[in-house]
Amino acid sequence: MSQGRFITFEGGEGVGKSTQIRRLAARLGATGREVVATREPGGSPGAEAIRDLLVKGAVDRWSPVTETLLMYAARRDHIERVIRPALARGAWVVCDRFADSTRAYQGAAGGTDPGLIAAMETYVLEEIRPDLTLIFDMAPEAGLARAADRTHAETRFESKGAAFHARLREAFLGIAAAEPGRCAVIDADQGLEAVEAQVWTTVEGRLAVHG
Ligand code: TMP
Repeated sequence: MSQGRFITFEGGEGVGKSTQIRRLAARLGATGREVVATREPGGSPGAEAIRDLLVKGAVDRWSPVTETLLMYAARRDHIERVIRPALARGAWVVCDRFADSTRAYQGAAGGTDPGLIAAMETYVLEEIRPDLTLIFDMAPEAGLARAADRTHAETRFESKGAAFHARLREAFLGIAAAEPGRCAVIDADQGLEAVEAQVWTTVEGRLAVHG
């Protein structure tokens, strides 16, 4: 069976990932391949049910370790039911957040032991790793202002405070610096068309899009 490609989008709050995922999925689809656009936490019915527990309610509803376990329960269901089957049939999977969000939110910013997160990656992800990760970077104040403009109930992580969001940005940039072969930093503080162009140039440059 042919093997697809797995692209993940990462970054802090309000950095504009979802619009750009739709645009990238449309461009990849226009090359004739099957594209699966999905998100975490969520992306399968079971994982979406777990998402509701995670993103709604009081900011201290879960400890960082409990959050890590819930994120990984959702991720495992998403992998088993959506991501692995799609890659196995040759589809390109474009996912809004994946394991780097757990490293950044629950690990670096939340204080969960990186050893626990590394063990989760080994035993829960198994062979599923992104071929390319686009890290959307912008000042957290700007992203949080954009996120606050949206009317939605999923505010638990947005409420975590300025220091948390500053640590997040550093964590994502640290992941990009540590794994430059997999990751690329996208300057998200530009107009939609400029960000779209940067995303497309990066994807074309890193993966055999037209092959
Ligand atoms: P979203 O707003 O990008 O849909 O993501 C939902 C929230 O979940 C967002 O605030 C980031 C958070 N999150 C984590 O804390 N850890 C994770 O592993 C993932 C996937 C998301």
